[in-house]
Amino acid sequence: MIEPHPFLAPDLQSKEPKELALLSIVSQSFFQPFSVEDNLLVILTALTSGSGVGFNRAMLFLTDGDRLRGKMWLGPRSAEEAQSIWKILSTPGIAYIEIIEHNRSLLTLEADSLSRRIQPLEFSLTGDNLTVPVTALAKNEILLVRDASREMLIDPRFLQAIDVEEFLCVPLISQNEVLGEIVLDNAFSRQPIQPKDIKLAGLCGLLAANYIFTATLHRKMIGMERLAALGEMSMFIAHQILNPLAAIGGFTDQLLAGPADETKRRRNLEIIRREIQRLEKIIFELAHFLKVEPKTPAPFDPEPEIRAVLQALELKAAAEGRELTSLIDDRLPPILGDPTYFGEALRNLIINAFEASPPGGRVEVTAERKDATWVVVSVKDEGRGMPPEVRSKLFTPFISTKDRGMGLGLLYVKRVMDACGGTVEVESEAGRGTTFRLSFRTREEGRPNA
Ligand SMILES: Nc1ncnc2c1ncn2[C@@H]1O[C@H](COP(=O)(O)OP(=O)(O)O)[C@@H](O)[C@H]1O
Ligand SMILES: [Mg+2]
Repeated sequence: MIEPHPFLAPDLQSKEPKELALLSIVSQSFFQPFSVEDNLLVILTALTSGSGVGFNRAMLFLTDGDRLRGKMWLGPRSAEEAQSIWKILSTPGIAYIEIIEHNRSLLTLEADSLSRRIQPLEFSLTGDNLTVPVTALAKNEILLVRDASREMLIDPRFLQAIDVEEFLCVPLISQNEVLGEIVLDNAFSRQPIQPKDIKLAGLCGLLAANYIFTATLHRKMIGMERLAALGEMSMFIAHQILNPLAAIGGFTDQLLAGPADETKRRRNLEIIRREIQRLEKIIFELAHFLKVEPKTPAPFDPEPEIRAVLQALELKAAAEGRELTSLIDDRLPPILGDPTYFGEALRNLIINAFEASPPGGRVEVTAERKDATWVVVSVKDEGRGMPPEVRSKLFTPFISTKDRGMGLGLLYVKRVMDACGGTVEVESEAGRGTTFRLSFRTREEGRPNA
């Protein structure tokens, strides 16, 4: 027998021992699409809800450079409020999203005096006379504090804020990086903190620290990737724009320098005009490329779109002495996609094929129904083909072997195909030609044809 099971059983909270229920809630936060803050708040909730370990209140501090700052403090303000919150949170089978919503409403309550009390608190993580709560981080140890008012090594501002005699400090440290701290107490029930609670709180601390570590790392990585992509794009565009601008500047200067004969004047103006057109084309391609946005693909008849593209490009082919032929099934079914994007993608492929072909070269466009689900539109040329190093980077932005290429055409094609649930394949051999194959769905997956 082979039986599948989900990682996180939704009914875990209601049936299992509270330790398991607590770990279930905490682990769920690693998979939830909410903000880091929301998810951390759920971890605090788990620590304070009746279904969890059952501390009364949980404080979260996060590190910010070499300081530890108060971030949030979850817990009721009175014993009565505690009763009602714990009742909600220990409702059997309460869903993660409900806990999140409940927490958000708690934090936005004007009366959220707890968080407001600790947010101004901050402690230096360095120095010689460290006090609680920082000591727990310096030693990387869980600290149970009793008879707090009689202890000398507790920060007085902290003691004044927490205002209880017994509490637990759980450091949040992962990969030697000090990330924050959770402080737990039983301000209302006055229950002494049990050894078992300390163990569970420690486990939650390890999980929370790991979660913060991964979430921050991920955010940093995305930021770095974006920055790198932006840098690459800016360099490329600057380079592409600089050439025409330099030409426009140079030829304008010549005209301004003094009288010129009519032929020279005309030649200069024509060059300036051409370079301006080139700039316009660059901006158009960029804007155009950025415009593809995934919409729900709808069925449309591809044949008129293909014919329109062919007709528009036949003149260009004739002018350049190339041959553009086509072979289109006359009973093509509707395909899924967006007709405008489809036409543009096809145009891009045909123009690339022209640009790769020698004078007099032939480009052939075919469209056929492959089976019940797929229609294939292909563009074949007998041009120069591609070496492997170009082929492996075809869908990378700004990779072009052309003097004036933007290297965005094929990425556009790829985005269009991704957006409509289709695929793009390439077959190419240096010196022998290239075929691009676009496969379009004729219907949505799992749905029979109408
Ligand atoms: N049909 C083709 N034959 C040979 N090489 C091609 C073909 N289509 C695309 N390529 C290669 O892929 C590169 C990227 O194409 P594309 O994304 O359309 O940008 P661009 O046309 O601006 O260079 C081209 O510079 C060229 O080297
Ligand atoms: Mg191109």
